[in-house]
Amino acid sequence: MGSDEDVRKRIERLRKVIRYHSHRYHVLDDPEITDAEYDALMAELRELEAAHPKLVTPDSPTQRVGGEPLPQFEKVEHRRPLLSLDNAFDEEEVRAWERRIRRLLADDADIKYTVEPKIDGLAVALTYEEGRLVQGATRGNGFVGEDVTQNLRTIPAIPLRIPLVGDEPPPSYLEARGEVYMPRDRFEELNRRREVAGEKPFANPRNAAAGSVRQLDPSITLSRPLSIFMYAVGHAQGVTLEGQWEALSFVRQMGFPTAENIQLCDDLEQALALYQKWLDQREALNYEADGVVIKVDSFAQQLALGEGAHAPRWAIAYKFPAHEGVTKLLRIAINVGRTGTLNPYAELEPVQVGGVTISHATLHNEEDIHRKDIREGDTVIVKRAGDVIPQVVGPIKELRTGDEKVFEIPKSCPACRQPVVKPEDEVMYYCINASCPAQLGGRVEHFASRGAMDIEGFGERLARTFVDKGLLGDVADFYYLKAEDLLELEGFAEQSVASLLKAIEASKERPLWHLVTALGIRGVGAVVAQVLVRHFASLGELMAASEGDLEAIDRLGPHTAKSIVGFFSQERNRRLVEKLRRAGVRMRRLPEEAGPQEGPLSGLTFVITGTLPTMSREGAAEFIEARGGRVTSSISRNTDYLLLGQRPGGAKIRRAKELGMPSITEEELHRLVEGR
Ligand code: IVH
Repeated sequence: MGSDEDVRKRIERLRKVIRYHSHRYHVLDDPEITDAEYDALMAELRELEAAHPKLVTPDSPTQRVGGEPLPQFEKVEHRRPLLSLDNAFDEEEVRAWERRIRRLLADDADIKYTVEPKIDGLAVALTYEEGRLVQGATRGNGFVGEDVTQNLRTIPAIPLRIPLVGDEPPPSYLEARGEVYMPRDRFEELNRRREVAGEKPFANPRNAAAGSVRQLDPSITLSRPLSIFMYAVGHAQGVTLEGQWEALSFVRQMGFPTAENIQLCDDLEQALALYQKWLDQREALNYEADGVVIKVDSFAQQLALGEGAHAPRWAIAYKFPAHEGVTKLLRIAINVGRTGTLNPYAELEPVQVGGVTISHATLHNEEDIHRKDIREGDTVIVKRAGDVIPQVVGPIKELRTGDEKVFEIPKSCPACRQPVVKPEDEVMYYCINASCPAQLGGRVEHFASRGAMDIEGFGERLARTFVDKGLLGDVADFYYLKAEDLLELEGFAEQSVASLLKAIEASKERPLWHLVTALGIRGVGAVVAQVLVRHFASLGELMAASEGDLEAIDRLGPHTAKSIVGFFSQERNRRLVEKLRRAGVRMRRLPEEAGPQEGPLSGLTFVITGTLPTMSREGAAEFIEARGGRVTSSISRNTDYLLLGQRPGGAKIRRAKELGMPSITEEELHRLVEGR
């Protein structure tokens, strides 16, 4: 090969051709050349890059596996939450949903629906800057996911670089969302190989996909046959899209795959007919779909309908009937939940349902058991509804022998032998003994878990030991533990005691929503806790809120409001909070927990560097956020201003210069606020 310039051109040319054929193969499923031809192109590119390492770029097709194994995943805060979907299990529920949305829109609104398969995989968000993949994140809890960029780069259907459309460059910022899945045939093949190699096969394609994406070593992800279907645009800078149908066609243009046979329906009847069609061909698909998603097509209508805490109102997942199986119910047992509920469950003769072995199934409550007339010893139908805990549908009475036993809920708690109670308007029985070991173990474990107080190294086993040994009579006792008590425990030495105490100490500083989650209030998980903390600046304010105050919050329902007020009205829970406060646990929210406010700085992102004349950095961040702005720690193309103080960081200034980003002083910041 001739000059360096010739090499560079040849490399560019090869990459372009390879990207084109890779897209035809992995996205369009319509290859134009043979695998051998493709391999030859890749081999040439690899050779040239090896000889000219300076010309290697991260978006080259040879660079899908770049990095080293990671020690752990970084957290990623989603710009817009990745919500879940509400489910409907029969036609009536779908119609009821449509009636609800019709009430919220104009009476005669013309609603079109996009109907898509609901892919059973792992949700991810892919971010592109100037057409290059810069980040791939899992859904996580919807607000915060994990950075799995290195792994997602290995999936051939995900473009590392978005192609030009005609002469048009891609949007400067694009976030697209989709579901990573493992094609069924490749899943079977992978499992066969694992079995031959003496490895444990995966339970189902979804677990295989999720497990593969959450590998710290990207070379393992590379070895797993994964693909993706995109289903949403999170954000596309400078692009106006009218609705879901158009958004899907836009993502295809950007080089991403979408599921085939998605349709735009003129009305609900068409959508329902399409559901039936999908259901009939479900087994023939090369991916697992557990239903269809019916989405109001128009973005204007979607906006008018809005979103609840967990799911948008403008979409519904119409689930396919769950997989079912038949087996023998050996015994009905009780498990005491973290909030004291007595949860009956069935111990089953193990049975395979939808590729998974089931030996336990939930029975909800006593009323349900009697209504369905389920007895110990019955032959029963069990179902696995999507990914939730298996359920007992009902008995096959024809197969009874007469030896079956009618179930009665015990009058005392199976864990602590104290009497149980049943509130009048509820179906559940409760053990109300606050120090019931069964509950306490669960409460303690929950309190220490990730997303709650996140006490590192403290899991189920330690929770049980600490409760059994009487070290924790309630969750606040964590903060009153003494080294000498712990040293007496088996398996603990100076070092491990010190690191546990350190982890406990560190947990005092968790953001407020962690504490709200950790309290274990029924109906208040991480998502609701975050919503609450946006509205209440401290735990004290939340404790003082009335049911009315809580119900006024957009995303909270009456049950949750009641449960929160009920929780804090109990003397022993208030005492618990007081005990936590005395121990020094953070009771106020961090500035960033207040969420985006509307204000003169809405839409602007700042990075702060150096010492400011009158405000501390934290103070400045609070000032900006209270006026609708965002503050981030590092400069990117999304940063609008560098707020500059004395003795700023050199790297930040250089980066801001490179990007041509304006920097302003504290005084100019005040003027900016006034001017807007
Ligand atoms: S739309 C805000 N469309 O289902 C709307 N989700 O149960 C939420 N999923 O987390 C997403 N196929 O991972 C949408 N065609 C599809 C989908 C889909 C699968 C997943 C997604 C979501 C989960 C909710």
